[in-house]
Amino acid sequence: MKFAVVGSGTMGHGIAEVLAIYGHQVKLIDISWDILNRAKQRMEESLRKFYEKGTVKEDPSVILSRIEMSTSYDVAKDIDFAIEAVPEILDLKRKVFQSLDEIAPKEAILATNTSSIPISEIAEFTSRKDKVIGMHFFNPPQIMKLVEVIPSKYTSEDTANKTVELARSLGKVPVKLRIEVPGFIGNRIFLRLMQEACREVESGEASIEEVDSCARNKIGLPMGIFELSDYVGLDIDVDLWENIVKRGTSDVPCKLFKEKVARKELGVKSGKGFYEYPGNKYLKVKLPATSKVDPARLLSLAVNEAAWLVENNIVKPSEVDDVMKYGYNFPKGLLEIADELGIDNILRNLEDIYNKGYSAYKPQDLLVKMVKEGKVGKKSGEGFYKYA
Ligand code: CAA
Repeated sequence: MKFAVVGSGTMGHGIAEVLAIYGHQVKLIDISWDILNRAKQRMEESLRKFYEKGTVKEDPSVILSRIEMSTSYDVAKDIDFAIEAVPEILDLKRKVFQSLDEIAPKEAILATNTSSIPISEIAEFTSRKDKVIGMHFFNPPQIMKLVEVIPSKYTSEDTANKTVELARSLGKVPVKLRIEVPGFIGNRIFLRLMQEACREVESGEASIEEVDSCARNKIGLPMGIFELSDYVGLDIDVDLWENIVKRGTSDVPCKLFKEKVARKELGVKSGKGFYEYPGNKYLKVKLPATSKVDPARLLSLAVNEAAWLVENNIVKPSEVDDVMKYGYNFPKGLLEIADELGIDNILRNLEDIYNKGYSAYKPQDLLVKMVKEGKVGKKSGEGFYKYA
């Protein structure tokens, strides 16, 4: 198939690389040759790593020869599928989608990798609303297996099916939402993790390092919550936070993240966020081996969010778990972990924090019902899953 990837930054260059690894022809479009050349260098470095490990058999130069770079949309005139990965600015998305709609063949699907802008709003920039869809990769796209597929109210079933199939053919695990919700699945849950991490620190319950040590050493996550926030980029975190809350999700008061952004401490990409990254390169953060933070407390708001998604039939428990395993490299699904920690423990923490005046922690009916019925997880034989 022939693809256009618009935007060659952190996500765009990785998506183009994945497509080329799987044998596709890619037109990588961006606004300047400086940016495109930097993308080429990053793709080269990444492909070299894969080649040396043997996970990619073809020589990097052969794979790269399938990627044509351009500063003009004209190269998109014979594509089958486009994926947009430009900054999260509505006017920029408008420009990209209007240009693609004008130049790409009428039957081409136009996907967006947005993590915070409603897909229906983007679809409305085009004359092919049924062929516009969300295809949300996770950072780094070369490694993370998850792709969230988000049909808008206009997207046809054929477009959604083709997008799911494409993700599968790229070795990814697609999770399709039944209906679009702000932040989709992964970022809604990631937001809740950031909010509880921030609340614990700002209320003096724990330090940043203790929160992150709990996440990494007790729960087994690949990164602490603040560490991951630095990795994603604090400007992106604040952006997705504001975009989700603006669209009707309850907020948790927190200043830490916004203050960092105001100081231009954006995480890995600026060399400093909650931690320091010499040379603007990610380096695993050093954390204390032990922590007083309770995993059931740290995960409580995220599990409550997952319960909301399940209760509202947006996705099934196993799909929430796929999102966290394949999009965030959780060692187990969030709801599998919740079953192990005990739904009663999760509920107790939610009630405790809610009673301190944080309205976002109001326990979901599903969790209250599960505890009432004695479905408290592994120890009772049933929680989100059944145990023999
Ligand atoms: N290309 C090729 N290989 C890469 C690579 C890339 N771009 N990035 C990392 N690697 C390789 C490294 O070379 C290394 O290989 P070896 O093990 O063979 O040495 C391996 O991946 C692990 O990398 P590191 O040693 O640098 O560090 P690590 O062990 O901490 O792993 C990580 C890095 C895979 C990113 C891991 O920390 C992780 O899974 N973190 C969680 C990432 C996550 O949650 N992403 C989702 C963010 S949210 C999002 O993206 C959505 C949104 O809309 C904001």
